[in-house]
Amino acid sequence: MLVRSFQVASPNWVPTSERAREVVVEALSPAHINRAFVLAGRIMGWIGARHDYGAVWELHPLVVAENVRGRGIGRALVDAIVGLVEEQGALTLLLGTSDESGLTNLFGRDLFRQPLDILQNIEAARGHPLGFWLNVGFAVVGVVPDAEGIGKPTILLAKAVGRARGSRR
Ligand SMILES: CC(C)(COP(=O)(O)OP(=O)(O)OC[C@H]1O[C@@H](n2cnc3c(N)ncnc32)[C@H](O)[C@@H]1OP(=O)(O)O)[C@@H](O)C(=O)NCCC(=O)NCCS
Repeated sequence: MLVRSFQVASPNWVPTSERAREVVVEALSPAHINRAFVLAGRIMGWIGARHDYGAVWELHPLVVAENVRGRGIGRALVDAIVGLVEEQGALTLLLGTSDESGLTNLFGRDLFRQPLDILQNIEAARGHPLGFWLNVGFAVVGVVPDAEGIGKPTILLAKAVGRARGSRR
C-alpha cells in the first residue's frame, strides 16, 4: 500500500517493499502514535504522529488504500490522530507534503525568492494530497525549497489542536 500510494507524488520515499517495511518498523517505536483502519481483517489505512518539539507534533504518514479512497477514511484517521495528540498536550499538528512530480504550481520554482508571495497562489492537481489537507482543516504555513532536489519543495501545513482542552504543559 505504501509503495503504490507514494509512487507518483513522492517516488523516492518508499520505492520498495523493503523500505516500506523499515518505515513501518520505525513507526512501531514507543515515540510514535499510530492508528490503522482495518476492514475485514486487512489494514486499509494508516496514520502516525510523533512529538517534534514543544507543543508541536508531526503527522507522518497518512495512507489509505486506493480502492477505498473517497469514503471519508482519511478524514476519520486525521480526526483520530488529532484526539490522540491532544491527549499528549499538542497545540500544533504539523506535516510536510512534497512535490517531486510537478503536481503543484511550486514545482520547478526558485522558492528562495519571494516564497511568501508564491505561497499566496499555491495550487495542486487532484493527484496531490494538498487539497485533502486543506479540506480537513490544515493551513499552508511554509515551504522548504529544494527539499527533495532542485525545484522539488516540501510544503508545510499545520492544524490547531487542543484549544478546547487547553495546554497541559
Ligand atoms: C490523501 C489520502 C490519504 C486521502 O484519503 P481519503 O480516504 O480518500 O480521503 P477522504 O475520503 O477522507 O477525503 C476527505 C475530503 O478531502 C477530499 N479529498 C481527498 N483527496 C483529495 C485530493 N487529493 N485533493 C483534493 N481533495 C481531496 C475528499 O473529496 C473529501 O472531501 P469532502 O469531505 O468535501 O467530501 C489518500 O488519497 C491517499 O492515501 N493518498 C496517497 C498517500 C498520500 O498522498 N498521503 C498523504 C501524504 S502527505
